[in-house]
Amino acid sequence: MRIQQQVQLKRFNTLNLDAIASHYVEIKQPEEIVQALDYAEQQQLNVIILSGGSNIMLPQRLNGLVMHMQIQGIASLSEDTQSQQFRVGAGQVWHDFVLWSTAQRCYGLQNLALIPGLVGASPVQNIGAYGVEAGEFIECVEIYDRQQQCFSRLSHVECQFGYRDSIFKQQPNRYIISHVVFRLLKQPQLKINYGDLKTAMGNDLSPENLQAQVIQIRQAKLPDPKEFSNVGSFFKNPLITAQQFATLLAQFPKLPHYPQAQDLVKIAAGWLIEQAGWKGKRLNNVGMFDRQALVLVNYADANLLDVQQTYRAVQQDVYQKFGIHLEPEPVLFNQDGQIQPHQDQCQ
Ligand code: EPU
Repeated sequence: MRIQQQVQLKRFNTLNLDAIASHYVEIKQPEEIVQALDYAEQQQLNVIILSGGSNIMLPQRLNGLVMHMQIQGIASLSEDTQSQQFRVGAGQVWHDFVLWSTAQRCYGLQNLALIPGLVGASPVQNIGAYGVEAGEFIECVEIYDRQQQCFSRLSHVECQFGYRDSIFKQQPNRYIISHVVFRLLKQPQLKINYGDLKTAMGNDLSPENLQAQVIQIRQAKLPDPKEFSNVGSFFKNPLITAQQFATLLAQFPKLPHYPQAQDLVKIAAGWLIEQAGWKGKRLNNVGMFDRQALVLVNYADANLLDVQQTYRAVQQDVYQKFGIHLEPEPVLFNQDGQIQPHQDQCQ
């Protein structure tokens, strides 16, 4: 384990924000988690867990020890007639694992192809796309529990998965994920009802074609972080009550919506942003993407303040037009490496 100082994190966050970490260490083995935590305690440093950097916003200076999770490896665990379990290191690239699982004829994750980031981040915000969420296939998550000071595992139920939500979001400083255990299906049960997916698949209803179509749709709509710095969807799709929704729909009959449990309705933030005039619009060098208004892009050398200026302007305009507050999806860190709640409600 080698602790480095004054490390530039620009290439480790897909928004490409300039951010210097006072201390930085790569974690390649679970034991190094404990060694790094001991070092942080001795030096009185806050700890910041960095994964693929595809869902974070960093300030220009980050005082603390950045632990960059790079534990590798995929191991087959038990199997039965219907399913097979895999234990995957937190540092494996998510998309590569999805492709690998399909090649092994193990199914479930095909709708989640091409999502940027690493496997260790998948349970944190319960990544989801095209009608599937990663949590559906997560059997348990292996963690280091900073409160109990021991390695342990959290079952699927204990993870408390919800829409872009889990216990890891609820208690952000407590658990450090080392591995994720997935249970994948031997017989595919395809979910192809989302949007144009069914049409795109044509007559070939195989999981391989599903994966290929998801990749094609994402490539057509979403910017490649290598070309345009972004963190995927920048805002969550708002969940509102059926009553609020009825009022809104009377005024905006075309509002795309998806009924949820508990009398809630999810509405499309991308549509709200487009209607508020932000699709393809920029403020300085930060703007909302012209093919998917939900994606915020850093077009050139923006820092956190530039990003905040743009997203707050978007929130303001959407609030004025629809009375809906958009909540950012990426995790925001302050200078001391602490996660900041997104509390900037519009008035
Ligand atoms: N829409 C617009 N204008 C836009 C964008 C979207 O009118 O600029 C409308 C679309 O026409 C559609 C609706 O909004 O009726 C939903 O759009 P889309 O299918 O593109 O999905 P989304 O709700 O914008 C969510 C996820 C994506 C995921 C897609 C597909 C969230 C916050 N985002 O986006 O996830 O890929 O569904 O399942 O839930 C991500 O989290 O980074 C991500 C890309």
